[in-house]
Amino acid sequence: MRVVRPRRYLTCEPRFFDVKYAINPWMREDVPVDTALALAQWESLCRTYRDLGHTVDTLEPVAGLPDMVFAANAALVLKGRVFRSRFHAEQRRPEAALYAAWFKDAGFDVHEPESVCEGEGDLVPAGGFILAGTGFRTTVPAHQEAQEFFGVPAVSLRLVDPYFYHLDTALFALDDENIAYYPGAFSPGSREVLERLFPDAVTATRDDAMAFGLNSVSDGRHVVIAPQATGLIGRLAERGYVPVPVDLSEFRKAGGGAKCCTQEVRVP
Ligand code: ARG
Repeated sequence: MRVVRPRRYLTCEPRFFDVKYAINPWMREDVPVDTALALAQWESLCRTYRDLGHTVDTLEPVAGLPDMVFAANAALVLKGRVFRSRFHAEQRRPEAALYAAWFKDAGFDVHEPESVCEGEGDLVPAGGFILAGTGFRTTVPAHQEAQEFFGVPAVSLRLVDPYFYHLDTALFALDDENIAYYPGAFSPGSREVLERLFPDAVTATRDDAMAFGLNSVSDGRHVVIAPQATGLIGRLAERGYVPVPVDLSEFRKAGGGAKCCTQEVRVP
């Protein structure tokens, strides 16, 4: 049986969530956002985590930062140490300091990288490595900085499809050993690296990836996943995981899903 490890998550209410600029192919400034629906979907995500036995912290959203709901991008937290972000897009840059302040208030040491780095959006701990995406946002020098900071080997992976501009739109950790991913999001060399490191991985189709099925959050047993990713839901169930569908459709308008809204605070 798959085993749950209780988690601590940090989220940010989408009170000011909107699409005000376009920095990835999902974003269209002319499509209106239903803020009430976004709030209800986010509340159901937080409730689901709590019902599964996890701790959920929240930080106050700030007006004028419509993407602040995407907590995953704010940092990578491992072994109780915080590697904060340095956003690629100018519009998102103020978010980094706000999240860093939250972590400092909560008693964490915070390291600021010198290069562009979008936290768990591109840095995914799995299999004893930090899987590290690059190509659209986070830079390779930031991968090296993360490796040096955490003392965990970073494995650079090249993303090639602009719809999967962050690593967490194409790959997630199922547990400490294994991952699920969409091979088509990666360069041929990076695909080979993933095959070699994770021969037993669950792979997903482009349809599942476009439904944000890889933007999922696993506690080792339960996988909080977009209900539209029907193929992947079936494959995960076959492999002994328990899919827990939570609809975050409103956030797709900004290029986000469940994982984007969730920062995992990993303490030793
Ligand atoms: N609009 C945001 C951006 O493009 C979405 C971020 C989604 N977050 C994620 N972890 N993939 O930056």
